[in-house]
Amino acid sequence: MAIRIIRKKDDEVLSKVCKPVTVFDKKLGILLDDMYDTMKMYEGVGLAASQVGILKRVVVIDAGTGRVELINPEIIEESGVQNGLEGCLSVPGVYGEVERPNKVTVRALDRNGVPFEITGEELLARALCHEIDHLNGKLFLERATRLETSQKGQEKV
Ligand code: NI
Repeated sequence: MAIRIIRKKDDEVLSKVCKPVTVFDKKLGILLDDMYDTMKMYEGVGLAASQVGILKRVVVIDAGTGRVELINPEIIEESGVQNGLEGCLSVPGVYGEVERPNKVTVRALDRNGVPFEITGEELLARALCHEIDHLNGKLFLERATRLETSQKGQEKV
């Protein structure tokens, strides 16, 4: 286990589009484990590989319903709307009002390259959308209609 350095908002790596994973090896497993430990250490609910400087389509999430690992995730269905404050481990101390679908279904591969689907609502749906945005080089700041600072207790994804 290793805690990786989280890149912050002015780091250009965060605006790059991540590449699909094609090799499912031990190194990928180590990256996933490190990302999970790093996310937990900083009390986030999600982390994308670009946030630790790796431009690959790899995401970990724990929105209170357990550990989820997503390789090459894609949203295949979305419905409803939710509005709420959203934060990000790469943008400490800033929260933004962001509209997201209330429910999304994502297709992805697991760490062994086996496909699966996951459906999430509310916070999990928000985290799935937020992390997939990271893989496409997007921060929540560009979707936010309003920004706030130092909102204690908000989720960081
Ligand atoms: Ni984030």
